[in-house]
Amino acid sequence: MSEQVACDVADVAPGTAMLAELTLASGADVPVAIVRSSEGDFYAIDDLCTHGAVSLSEGEVEGCFVECWAHGSRFDVRTGEPDELPAITPVKTYPVRVDGERVLVDVDHPNS
Ligand code: FES
Repeated sequence: MSEQVACDVADVAPGTAMLAELTLASGADVPVAIVRSSEGDFYAIDDLCTHGAVSLSEGEVEGCFVECWAHGSRFDVRTGEPDELPAITPVKTYPVRVDGERVLVDVDHPNS
């Protein structure tokens, strides 16, 4: 499996995020946070914070960062790197392509 539809463009307003349950080629489910930056660009990262079992799609989006609501780690959605403790491990990021009104994500070929 390669690209799959994660959501519609209209589903995610700039400065927000939503959870998409996608599927790897192996058949395993992978929860992905679809993040739309304040500038309106789309990004896809692993939904689970690397510090705890908390959904990053429920976090606050600021510019190109999403902040975990549990302990405040901020992840750069372009690279997956955290810039605030306590998280020290990056989340995976995935290629995203907007095709008309659809947001497509390739979970089988992570960027990082
Ligand atoms: S669970 Fe996300 S920072 Fe602790």
